[in-house]
Amino acid sequence: MDKETLDIIIKCGQRAPTSNNLQAYTIIYVKDNNKKEKLAQISGGQKWVVEAPVVLLFCADLNRIKRYSNSENKDIFGTSELYTVAIIDTALAAQKSLIAAQSLGLGGVVVGGIRNDMEKVHSMFNLPDLVAPLFLLCLGYPDHDPGLKPRLSKDVIFKVDIYDTSREDELIEEYNKTMEEYYKERSNGKVQSNWSEKCKQALSKQPRQKVDDFLRSAGFFK
Ligand SMILES: Cc1cc2nc3c(=O)[nH]c(=O)nc-3n(C[C@H](O)[C@H](O)[C@H](O)COP(=O)(O)O)c2cc1C
Repeated sequence: MDKETLDIIIKCGQRAPTSNNLQAYTIIYVKDNNKKEKLAQISGGQKWVVEAPVVLLFCADLNRIKRYSNSENKDIFGTSELYTVAIIDTALAAQKSLIAAQSLGLGGVVVGGIRNDMEKVHSMFNLPDLVAPLFLLCLGYPDHDPGLKPRLSKDVIFKVDIYDTSREDELIEEYNKTMEEYYKERSNGKVQSNWSEKCKQALSKQPRQKVDDFLRSAGFFK
């Protein structure tokens, strides 16, 4: 990817909405192949981290505003509210970058697997306190069109005036059937699963306990 394209992607990312213009994130362009290899390992062997021509590390960053705000309200650092602000700012910047990349013909994958070992990623990139490596955005030119993964019916996630679940059972059942077909087709019949089962699988894993420890040691929580 040429420098100009990457510049456009990052500058579009910067146009994302940001709470109080705090811009509480930092993006690190990972060029070093050794670092890419290590990130792929930490993520549980996700080979696209090594293969993608551009790998961007998105970090929630409260360090910069602590240094430059001259805020006397030191207690604000270490609160859930400020942590949430940084997470949202970072996620919106990443999504805006991804949309920009897609509009230029690129494809991308978000890799949260690096949170398997945030401490290691933190030291690999010399990150200071109050900077948390959240996920990678791996970008490249797709060699085929993978198609769209079906999503929940709009009527499940979009509600008017009130949290109405009256049609959910029916709509989720339909979606489970759609996803069953999708997995079957994508795996040549090998994967027999659906959305509810995949959610169950995902939620039966042990949460990454070390994320909590890391966030405390990096000053995000007291
Ligand atoms: C925070 C976050 C973390 C993710 N982590 C991974 C990951 O580690 N590996 C992966 O293959 N996909 C991961 N994904 C999902 C992909 O980015 C992508 O959404 C998925 O491959 C499905 O593609 P689709 O969004 O086009 O349906 C993650 C998504 C999010 C939002």
